Amino acid sequence: MWSTFVWCLIGILMVSNPLLAKHKSLTDIHTVLPSTIPDTEYEQVIAERYLFAPFANESIAWVTLSDIHSVWQAVSLPQYHSQAAEGVWLLGQTTTKTQRTEFMNTTLHMFWMSLSTNGTLVTLTGIDVKSNTSRLVVSHNTNTIRTYTAALISLDRIQLLLCNRSDATSCNMIQIIYFPSVLANISKIAGGIFVEDLGVAGWLFIASDTGLHGLDLSTFTIVPFVNQINTGVSSLAWSSKRQTVFFGTDTKLWIHSYGTDNEGWRFEHINGLIDAPITSLVYNDVQDQLWVGQDTGITFLLPVVMSTGRLHWYFSRLAGQISNPGSYIGHLPLANITVLGVSHSTVSDSRVWLGSIYGVMRFNSNDTDMNSWRVFNSARYMPNRNALVDVSSLAVLSRSSTALSVAGSAAVAVTSKGLSVLRFEIWTLAQKVRHFQAFLEQPGRHNKYNLVSDCPMSLWGDNRSCIKGSSDNDGLWTTMYLSSQIFRYAVTKDPTVKVSAWTHFEALELLNQVSGSV
Ligand SMILES: *[C@@H]1O[C@H](CO)[C@@H](O)[C@H](O)[C@H]1NC(C)=O
Ligand SMILES: *[C@@H]1O[C@H](CO)[C@@H](O)[C@H](O)[C@H]1NC(C)=O
Ligand SMILES: *[C@@H]1O[C@H](CO)[C@@H](O)[C@H](O)[C@H]1NC(C)=O
Ligand SMILES: *[C@@H]1O[C@H](CO)[C@@H](O)[C@H](O)[C@H]1NC(C)=O
Ligand SMILES: *[C@@H]1O[C@H](CO)[C@@H](O)[C@H](O)[C@H]1NC(C)=O
Ligand SMILES: *[C@@H]1O[C@H](CO)[C@@H](O)[C@H](O)[C@H]1NC(C)=O
Ligand SMILES: *[C@@H]1O[C@H](CO)[C@@H](O)[C@H](O)[C@H]1NC(C)=O
Ligand SMILES: *[C@@H]1O[C@H](CO)[C@@H](O)[C@H](O)[C@H]1NC(C)=O
Ligand SMILES: *[C@@H]1O[C@H](CO)[C@@H](O)[C@H](O)[C@H]1NC(C)=O
Repeated sequence: MWSTFVWCLIGILMVSNPLLAKHKSLTDIHTVLPSTIPDTEYEQVIAERYLFAPFANESIAWVTLSDIHSVWQAVSLPQYHSQAAEGVWLLGQTTTKTQRTEFMNTTLHMFWMSLSTNGTLVTLTGIDVKSNTSRLVVSHNTNTIRTYTAALISLDRIQLLLCNRSDATSCNMIQIIYFPSVLANISKIAGGIFVEDLGVAGWLFIASDTGLHGLDLSTFTIVPFVNQINTGVSSLAWSSKRQTVFFGTDTKLWIHSYGTDNEGWRFEHINGLIDAPITSLVYNDVQDQLWVGQDTGITFLLPVVMSTGRLHWYFSRLAGQISNPGSYIGHLPLANITVLGVSHSTVSDSRVWLGSIYGVMRFNSNDTDMNSWRVFNSARYMPNRNALVDVSSLAVLSRSSTALSVAGSAAVAVTSKGLSVLRFEIWTLAQKVRHFQAFLEQPGRHNKYNLVSDCPMSLWGDNRSCIKGSSDNDGLWTTMYLSSQIFRYAVTKDPTVKVSAWTHFEALELLNQVSGSV
């Protein structure tokens, strides 16, 4: 299977070259000059999978995060942080054996994970993570840069953190705000969001299983049950342009507008324009629309400003498994949406990231229809042998200031068995050919008496391993590879390519002769 793909790819890349295909017969192919061959740049995904310690046996090819028992949240840094394009903060649990080995010592921590250190996590000392449902919420507001960076929300308190703007491993706890006794029964924090321009100094909204709560950042007082919302809130989103905050529950989408002329609260029922309980929300500023995630798919909410200045919202649906008349971006590849995210980069990024129980998707409203969706599922991208991976948290990093706009931001997805890190590089097709050519030229893999041969993996998911054996497909793979090398020689004029191509031709010739068919 794998080798089929490799050979087809090289063959197709060469054969599909329009200059070669359209104008030249094989005999006069030598007149094509290498410098006239067009090449195309494209966005190449680099996927890295990291396993939590209890799942180290999933595949030997993936790095295990030693001592990390689980992670429940990945968080991108404030957009002004100098390392915002380099890594993420994680909330997770370590398990280490104590002196008396029958006891496991379990502790909760905040970590810094740089994407370039191959799974080495740095523990932030002095940050006391209270519960395995605590949530870290980052503020991107540069006005409060010296007062606080983030809030760590736990079941009974909010800890405000102040972090070094150029060292992600350095944060201090600077203030604790305890919840009043009326909030004594919170057992899950679903999330939080800083709304910078609401009130005197902004608000922090808290989504919990008991309802919606707020922290007024001018007085640092907790306002329980904001707008009397006392059922579980799963998600929050904010549009600064529209001065509107959204809150998702199982039964309603709450919309709170606070701009002049539009102040007020309203809601939409679930099972009406939104067809299932809300699991996740995100506002995409580039598209200027709200994405509402559900088990059944995605619903959009788009603003319309009336001539009176009044703001209205209208719905549009992007369903998953069910048909979707009226949708303008086609079908959703995977349903059962669990989390939604966008990059808070200072360099604009139009892409929306979606987490699902089956993996991760990315939608780019600025791309053509055919290229707008990318799907990252299965062990190719996720640290799991099974399709069901339960993406529970998704952090989209900032783009570095030097990033090309065609290359998307990196993302880190938290799944049940580990982390998936998805990064993007701009490659040319020539670069892609070099990658696969180098892979197949590794000694002891695909060359069998100059026949090009299958080499299935002996260790699950580990492409360093291979089992050579006899196969009736060798002839097919060799002919396809040989064709590709003829084109490769025509383009590159590399004499070693010609020599190597002949050895494969001779192997095929031998196959014919030994069978007596000549
Ligand atoms: C890994 O180990 C666990 C626990 O022993 C076992 O249930 C699971 O099947 C193993 N997974 C693989 C892929 O071997
Ligand atoms: C990453 O770490 C793993 C072991 O944890 C090691 O096998 C691998 O070679 C490392 N890769 C790089 C690029 O350092
Ligand atoms: C458990 O770990 C914490 C921090 O890692 C340490 O302070 C504590 O002493 C450990 N407890 C035991 C019983 O080893
Ligand atoms: C969180 O901790 C509680 C006990 O304190 C435990 O029952 C629960 O399973 C833990 N949840 C996760 C997701 O680890
Ligand atoms: C922030 O971190 C940088 C780099 O480690 C260091 O040079 C600087 O002194 C730190 N600033 C503060 C205020 O601690
Ligand atoms: C918390 O739950 C307990 C048990 O269900 C109940 O008796 C108590 O009134 C609740 N407290 C608050 C503040 O809601
Ligand atoms: C996935 O979503 C469908 C509705 O589209 C629902 O019926 C199903 O139970 C969901 N599956 C899981 C595992 O949550
Ligand atoms: C995406 O498209 C919008 C609207 O067409 C445009 O304003 C924005 O600059 C584009 N963003 C990127 C990153 O190309
Ligand atoms: C083989 O696996 C490594 C590590 O997972 C990966 O970097 C490399 O791209 C793979 N080779 C090919 C040809 O895909």
